[in-house]
Amino acid sequence: MTPTSKQALLNWFDVHQREMPWRLTKDPYAIWVSEMMLQQTQVVTATPYWQRWMERFPTVASLADAPLDDVLMHWQGLGYYARARNMHKAASVVLSDHAGVFPTSYDDLLALPGVGPYTAAAVSSISSNAHRAVVDANVIRVLCRHEGIEDNPKLPAVQVRLQTIADANLDEARPGDFNQAMMELGATLCTPKSPFCDRCPIGDDCIAKKTRMPERYPLPVEKPKAIRRTDVLIIALCDGMTYTHQLPQDGLWGGLYSFPRISVMDGESVIETVTRLAIDILGGENHQPVELGRIRHAVTIYNVELIAYIVNVTEFAADHHNWRSLSEIDTFPMPNPQAKLWAQHKHELLSGRLPVSQPALDL
Ligand code: ADE
Repeated sequence: MTPTSKQALLNWFDVHQREMPWRLTKDPYAIWVSEMMLQQTQVVTATPYWQRWMERFPTVASLADAPLDDVLMHWQGLGYYARARNMHKAASVVLSDHAGVFPTSYDDLLALPGVGPYTAAAVSSISSNAHRAVVDANVIRVLCRHEGIEDNPKLPAVQVRLQTIADANLDEARPGDFNQAMMELGATLCTPKSPFCDRCPIGDDCIAKKTRMPERYPLPVEKPKAIRRTDVLIIALCDGMTYTHQLPQDGLWGGLYSFPRISVMDGESVIETVTRLAIDILGGENHQPVELGRIRHAVTIYNVELIAYIVNVTEFAADHHNWRSLSEIDTFPMPNPQAKLWAQHKHELLSGRLPVSQPALDL
């Protein structure tokens, strides 16, 4: 990138950057929280999460002291819960290894649980002007277009090339702002579809702009086709209580609370599956599951239809500690589809009205 373009990018950023609450601080902890949230999440979605988080956990010490459930509750809906669990762990490491002072150097940041090169570069450059270039999906798109790179950006050799270019471009005096300007450009002007090349501050030396086919870059990477799956879920009702259990820490949705849930197997009907689940978890034989509602959601490679059933029982099953009052269920962190189902139906369930079937709902 020419020095003129670099300066034009910074000038553009100074005028056009969007307001983000974490841009008003140099606190490395607050910036780290924002960067962890912004992975796979848009700024508009992350902003209220960041605000709630900073109110509840204003310092790294308050995060380390908090119960994991509370931390997961403040992450609920952002997905990729391993990030929240790692943040909780990282907070303890900052207390034990850095006397509670949040690190700002790239190497110290990289050593924290859940912090990779992207986050370490972003936090160190933004909070302390470390000379480290950020390469995220937005930056990859900007660089592939600007440099006319037609190779698959997922290939390791291409990633090395992109990092080398990004390092060479980085502004000496304002590396943090330069990194943010590149990400901002990718998010607002150099968009995947219909980019706004006429307003681009670095268009003068951009190869993709010259070709007038900027959308050709980067090379589209084929996504595997989603596999359809049906899951059933049981909301067991017994004397104002329902059954949820905590999912294993190391799996998907680790540490969150779930109603009993399984996938329908090949050759098995939905009603057979829910009956099998009811017998497994609740004991007894003669269950009469009633459909409560359906929700569609995507998870990893699956496109899931989740069907929720009510099962009334007269006795608590073996795991007594897993029965919780209906009125406190939404104080537990849950996978988002289940939290949505719960929010839709909680009034009828709390008021004891008999559930009625609901039309399928697309997420
Ligand atoms: N995406 C992730 N971090 C960002 C930042 N600091 N500015 C703009 N976009 C971002």
